[in-house]
Amino acid sequence: MAPDRASEAPPPLSDNETDEATVGRYKLAAARAAAELVQDGMRVGLGTGSTVAYLLAALGERADELGRARCVATSPATAQIARELGLHVHGLDEVGELDIAIDGADQVARDGWLVKGGGGAHTREKIVAAAAERFVVIVSAEKLRARVGPPVPLEVLRFGVQRTLLAIGDAQLRAAHASPDGNLIADYTGPVQDARRLAERLSATPGVVEHGLFAPEMVSEIVVAGADGVRRRAGGKPTA
Ligand code: 5RP
Repeated sequence: MAPDRASEAPPPLSDNETDEATVGRYKLAAARAAAELVQDGMRVGLGTGSTVAYLLAALGERADELGRARCVATSPATAQIARELGLHVHGLDEVGELDIAIDGADQVARDGWLVKGGGGAHTREKIVAAAAERFVVIVSAEKLRARVGPPVPLEVLRFGVQRTLLAIGDAQLRAAHASPDGNLIADYTGPVQDARRLAERLSATPGVVEHGLFAPEMVSEIVVAGADGVRRRAGGKPTA
């Protein structure tokens, strides 16, 4: 990634850049740009969320051409949509390593840190991203931040959940369905002064299955769509 200054805020967006229809158009543009990276025969990780829904639609339009591509979904919802669109969905252990994974994000900071898990799928999303040679993040410009902040999604074990939340501090259960793996979804709402230190602390807390902080070195590329078109930023993971 270009050595942006972490303290520098992204330019403020005007009202008409944050309305739902405009944001939808930006998500579509970012998703369609990333869809072009997918070739027949590739092993492809598919994220979760509304931006990924546009990606799935773009890949679905090419389902015949992508007849030998093998996809791994990060959620049951993504798996279902992908199958309905004619894409071939397999388990991660069946496919093994992935050539590419493409996913959305809730926040993208200038220093390359991401927050993911708005849809509570961050544990599977992180496993799939880590299995991919190239991890591409697709976002509309309103996801850009000077630095990542709360809420940071958490997946926590049911057993002793109140004890786990107490140990974390500033954390609440989310009114959401359990994860597909039977765990609960919560959010850390305290300050994020140092994303790496917080990520380490959350990972070290017994009962936390996974948190939604994604380190810059996991990310190959960030595709951002906004008023000035589609821009690509290199992530902290070198692309082979
Ligand atoms: C789901 C995620 C999503 O990628 C994130 O919440 C962004 O969602 P959307 O594309 O709907 O804005 O991490 O767990």
